[in-house]
Amino acid sequence: MSASQLANREVVVDVVDLKKSFGDNEVLKGISGQIHRGEVICVIGPSGSGKSTLLRCLNLLEQPTGGNVFVEGVEVTDPDCDIDKVRADMGMVFQQFNLFPHLTVLENCTIGQMVVRKRSKSDAEAKARENLLRVGLADKEGAYPGQLSGGQQQRVAIARALSMDPELMLFDEPTSALDPELVGDVLSVMRKLASEGMTMFVVTHEMAFARDVADRVIFMDGGYIVEEGAPDQVIGNPQHQRTKTFLDRVLNPTKVGQIGAEDEAHAARHQSVPDADGDGDSRP
Ligand SMILES: Nc1ncnc2c1ncn2[C@@H]1O[C@H](COP(=O)(O)OP(=O)(O)O)[C@@H](O)[C@H]1O
Ligand SMILES: [Mg+2]
Repeated sequence: MSASQLANREVVVDVVDLKKSFGDNEVLKGISGQIHRGEVICVIGPSGSGKSTLLRCLNLLEQPTGGNVFVEGVEVTDPDCDIDKVRADMGMVFQQFNLFPHLTVLENCTIGQMVVRKRSKSDAEAKARENLLRVGLADKEGAYPGQLSGGQQQRVAIARALSMDPELMLFDEPTSALDPELVGDVLSVMRKLASEGMTMFVVTHEMAFARDVADRVIFMDGGYIVEEGAPDQVIGNPQHQRTKTFLDRVLNPTKVGQIGAEDEAHAARHQSVPDADGDGDSRP
């Protein structure tokens, strides 16, 4: 989506000078921005920079200590807000899949619909089957999570979230806990969702995904948005030294090894960046 197309889109999430402290540790130092309908935003940045905290403040899994968050025009930071109602519109996919181990795949995908959306069992099952088909797991509805690979469990978690008919999907490093060979299937489900017009806010270390799929990339460091813009701009031609340093470490895992680079080493292990420009150096 171009910047001018985006400007005409409805605002789904509006964040105004968001701050969050844990004790005297201020981890979000004034974040502002908007997510538009149909937009895919990828958030990148070193470990500890506040990415998860930002995402969790959007649906009050963390209570902000300053600023305002509006979702679909409703101020979620207003103490009178019915947060359960707002949360129902926000699908959330975590690094750990958080499926119920004692429920089948189908049951995992219907329980929230029945409890929160008050759907009948048969309506919920029809919706769940539709979404299991979407993530390529139609044949697994009777399985238990423990019988599935990590990649399959994560796709169930995505189907579960989609079955709630969310207005937007929040992903917090959805592929970071997966074995490398299982990452691709989850990313291709996410690509498909993006191409179908889902509004997505994705914390990720998958630079190739961010580069191909995001409408906008946000680089965070130290509780601030340091840089944001089109992926080719932020990942391909970063303007700030901190962005350059981070990308250099993440895109060149073999350089990692100095003391102090542990944060990015985790990301680097899960990184596979195709040689986008064909010059053989696997750098953008
Ligand atoms: N529940 C919490 N209690 C105290 N400190 C926290 C809590 N959650 C996160 N933090 C701190 O906030 C900072 C940012 O964490 P986080 O948002 O998880 O970063 P990221 O997702 O970018 O790795 C870190 O210093 C972390 O230790
Ligand atoms: Mg995190």
